[in-house]
Amino acid sequence: MKVIVTKNYEEMSALAAKEFAAVIQNKADCVLGLATGDTPIGMYRELVAMHEKNGLDFSKVSSVNLDEYYPITPDNDQSYRYFMNYHLFDHVNIDKANTNVPDGTAVDPDTFCRDYEAKIDALGGIDIQVLGIGRNGHIGFNEPDANGLIPDTHLTDLTANTIEANSRFFSSMDEVPKQALTMGIHSVFKARKIVILASGEGKADAVRAMLAGKITTTCPASLLCIHPDVTLICDEAAYSKV
Ligand code: F6R
Repeated sequence: MKVIVTKNYEEMSALAAKEFAAVIQNKADCVLGLATGDTPIGMYRELVAMHEKNGLDFSKVSSVNLDEYYPITPDNDQSYRYFMNYHLFDHVNIDKANTNVPDGTAVDPDTFCRDYEAKIDALGGIDIQVLGIGRNGHIGFNEPDANGLIPDTHLTDLTANTIEANSRFFSSMDEVPKQALTMGIHSVFKARKIVILASGEGKADAVRAMLAGKITTTCPASLLCIHPDVTLICDEAAYSKV
């Protein structure tokens, strides 16, 4: 894994956006693997600025998102579809028909997951994937599990910790979805290039565990160490315990 340590969140975001812009400029019809959460917001802001100021062109770009709550409707302002529209898709010239976010309204989630995996393959795989890292080392909604991880896109129960952490965004605990659709580690590994971002002291333990030199399903991010093209871009605070 290549490691780049930046001064702060802004520098991390600018570098990550540069990596994405380079892929888009090299291959107009590339496939972007996208994530939600606080971490990539700065990168999306930079990409929007590159589109507005330098004409970075998303017209032929497709995208695939990592995960979505289940159940949830796309117009719910806590849905990941809403997040993506708000932070990126509504501000660049991407064709929304080419953007894929797992469907939180799918009637048959198992069939949906199989189709989502097939969709990634039909697109020719992901050219560049951005990931955030959970405080417990999760990626997507692949939570640490000593008994193993499900490789492909699947429906998963959220852990009590994740439900509690997410409750701050909902008006009551009852409204927090208890499940999510998520790409698995194998789906993520279909990406030719992966950029994992980490910012702030709160991520320092997770970054240390990821880089500890031991691959384990109790730290799903550690599996990234065996992908051939992964770059960790993290700020000094997130790197402070390595
Ligand atoms: C989001 C996702 C999650 C987040 C992770 C970090 O699509 O899959 O794994 O990347 O929970 O979240 P933030 O960036 O909010 O710290």
